[in-house]
Amino acid sequence: MNKTSGLQLVERDESGVDTAFRADVLSGLAQPQKAIPARWLYDDTGSQLFEDITQLPEYYPTRAETQILSARGDEFAEMIGKGCAVVEFGSGSSVKTPLLLEAIEPSAYVPLDIAGDFLRAAAADLAEKFPGLPVYPVEADFMRRVELPPEVADLPKLGFFPGSTIGNMIARTGVDLLRTMRETLGVGAKLLIGMDIIKDAETLQAAYDDASGTTAKFNLNLAHRINRELRGDIPVDALKHEARWNDEHARIEMHLVAQRDIDFAVSDERFTMKAGESIHTENSHKFDRRTSNMLLLAGGWDPIERWVDDEGRFSLLLAEARPNRSAP
Ligand code: AVI
Repeated sequence: MNKTSGLQLVERDESGVDTAFRADVLSGLAQPQKAIPARWLYDDTGSQLFEDITQLPEYYPTRAETQILSARGDEFAEMIGKGCAVVEFGSGSSVKTPLLLEAIEPSAYVPLDIAGDFLRAAAADLAEKFPGLPVYPVEADFMRRVELPPEVADLPKLGFFPGSTIGNMIARTGVDLLRTMRETLGVGAKLLIGMDIIKDAETLQAAYDDASGTTAKFNLNLAHRINRELRGDIPVDALKHEARWNDEHARIEMHLVAQRDIDFAVSDERFTMKAGESIHTENSHKFDRRTSNMLLLAGGWDPIERWVDDEGRFSLLLAEARPNRSAP
């Protein structure tokens, strides 16, 4: 699955180039700290590599979140109630989504994604696993307010946004998304959202720079993609994957670091990098109880419950869109 497909709208020029990709790469490489938005990591190869990452021994988030979903079903059912409409932001995971649906027995399932192919495949898969459950896939960019199908208008809503994908956004973008989710789901809705927890730098670094080199391949694939799609000649062998813990911002950053002075072209524009200079390709923010609560509150959601896995590595938070109050 393309983890950030919900953020993408594809517009191509006459030679088939994704114009938003080109614009982001050219402006990102022209900045003093070169930086390219993480969404471009997910072409077909990148999406497959991300799937491989979720299976790595060092990459704990997927396993930890799945463990919470398997172990806490009774509590979800009690706090969320049965018979709601589950609105998933993204096409859904073949493992996590069924665990939630089994626990809370919803009356409808609405996956939202801009990537129609992923969406239809995931929806068909789900409909087969849950024969009695009405599934209403909606092809839409969930970064904007989405009109939900009329069939779920009268049902209580639960938004589902697992995986700590919110952590790949800077706070301002994350808050915007949470506010948009509130508009999409309406006052009274609940939201179940995954957020990875701040922990020791060694564990985090290993999760984002694994021994098999899969995360390195995932990061370097971006340079290959630029060469392939944007007529680039980046010497990829001169770049090295690096995962850095930025304590000030509580995030793991992925960088592609030049091992020697290099110069290269992308779409006829020339760029140089000195040895040691990097292209910043991803942020993965981590949270503690207070910062996750603060992010939810800023986005218009009142936190009501927080679950963590047995080893305290990952959190799932339940929040509610309460009516706005101006008084303390
Ligand atoms: C999709 N996202 C939540 C992953 C993460 O952990 O931030 C992406 C990832 N990047 C490197 N490894 C995994």
